[in-house]
Amino acid sequence: MKIRPVRSHDSERINRLLENAKLPPQDLSVDHVQAVVATIGEHIVGHAAVEVHGQHGLLRSVVTDPEVQRQGIASALVTHLEKSASDAGLDSLFLLTETAFDYFSRLGYEARERDTAPDSIRESSEYSIVCPSSAALMIKQLKKKDGHG
Ligand SMILES: CC(C)(COP(=O)(O)OP(=O)(O)OC[C@H]1O[C@@H](n2cnc3c(N)ncnc32)[C@H](O)[C@@H]1OP(=O)(O)O)[C@@H](O)C(=O)NCCC(=O)NCCS
Repeated sequence: MKIRPVRSHDSERINRLLENAKLPPQDLSVDHVQAVVATIGEHIVGHAAVEVHGQHGLLRSVVTDPEVQRQGIASALVTHLEKSASDAGLDSLFLLTETAFDYFSRLGYEARERDTAPDSIRESSEYSIVCPSSAALMIKQLKKKDGHG
């Protein structure tokens, strides 16, 4: 399995993975997004993205092809994006989830009251439109490059 940045012609396959998992499609209107795919050979088997909003990131659209789940693919994608976000100087990653609260707890994310989210995250399209209000908000503080905090 390899991880690489998303390319424009990956969209159809990524949206099929998201649709099958009942997740919203890619939001192509967002400028500041880092998105990666997991590949086995030429085949895309997973996807995850971080929207950058100031000092914070919004982790979204984490999905693995059901054929290859439970092999660590999603956790590898999330770890990859956490490192990139930390290297880029972000303080924390937020996410919204309706179905994978326990999954992200295992990866070190903690529940947060929705109304405590920073304005930049609240103003993101996923926060305000895409995710129903029943979704839980979670946060993980990122380690700084020097290893402190
Ligand atoms: C959640 C998801 C991305 C995990 O992908 P994955 O590549 O199988 O994840 P990993 O291999 O890193 O981890 C697998 C472990 O997480 C557990 N897990 C998977 N989905 C879970 C969930 N919704 N809640 C709790 N645990 C979950 C698996 O049982 C497995 O546990 P095990 O290690 O004890 O066997 C995948 O199940 C998926 O695509 N789900 C649908 C989309 C979704 O809900 N995305 C998250 C919201 S953005």
